[in-house]
Amino acid sequence: MKGQSSHKTVVIGSGKGGVGKSTVAVNLAVALAKTGLRVGLLDADVYGPSIPIMLGLRRVSPRVYSDAQGQTRVQPFTKFGVKSISIGFFLEESQSLVWRGPMLHGALQKMLVEVEWGELDLMLVDLPPGTGDIPISLAKLMRIDGAIVVCTPQEVAMLDAIKAINAFDQLNIPLLGVIENMAGFTAPDTGEVYHIFGQGKAQELATRFQVPLLGSIPLIPAIRRGSDEGYPAAFHQGDNDVGRHFRDLSSKVSQLLT
Ligand SMILES: Nc1ncnc2c1ncn2[C@@H]1O[C@H](COP(=O)(O)OP(=O)(O)OP(=O)(O)O)[C@@H](O)[C@H]1O
Ligand SMILES: [Mg+2]
Repeated sequence: MKGQSSHKTVVIGSGKGGVGKSTVAVNLAVALAKTGLRVGLLDADVYGPSIPIMLGLRRVSPRVYSDAQGQTRVQPFTKFGVKSISIGFFLEESQSLVWRGPMLHGALQKMLVEVEWGELDLMLVDLPPGTGDIPISLAKLMRIDGAIVVCTPQEVAMLDAIKAINAFDQLNIPLLGVIENMAGFTAPDTGEVYHIFGQGKAQELATRFQVPLLGSIPLIPAIRRGSDEGYPAAFHQGDNDVGRHFRDLSSKVSQLLT
């Protein structure tokens, strides 16, 4: 698999859990697809795959069939213009609690080899939190062109992000940029901005590693709702102010890749 495909592959990581990697990955994928790019989204979070929920693909299974050579093939889902598959589909329920390296590696390999991704321009990979086995396995299985790190504006997120960036560095995965998520919340009644998760640390991270701050996504209830309801904000709010954040982000990311 390594080196075979011509599309770019970018992993989305963070170090710290719950900062919005999956939300950003889904909405960025949708926003990029809206510009006409052929985008694949690979959910590599073995501990809590959330892409199926965020894309409204709960309780469904991908079509699996044998090709003319008797090889198992898996059809990815196509929704909101994005092809996606989750590692959740390649696991036995009982396997998900206790993960061992070889099982993980095998499941990732199946996602890359058996899934009919077709021609893509870009594959985004949603990573689990931390700096564990998944990026190591992925880097063995495929060429990874870069990493984008999602960071909330707070110190603790920045410190965890530094660990993730150092882990990417050890795997020779270049850091492409930082995305700030859960930046200020604007009260709808007064217009006052509340910096619930602090301020400035994502920018500090980008400056420290000399990469661009690709975007700053505020804390917006419609983004949370879109993720929970399986109808990404970048799709259904695509043309308004909420969608603007992901439109701006997608143009920065596509500039980076060309
Ligand atoms: N900009 C935002 N505005 C409002 N809610 C957000 C925003 N970004 C993320 N959320 C919400 O925060 C929660 C955590 O987001 P998400 O699951 O994307 O984080 P994660 O980094 O992928 O978490 P994990 O480390 O568990 O994989 C979700 O409920 C999501 O809907
Ligand atoms: Mg996630």
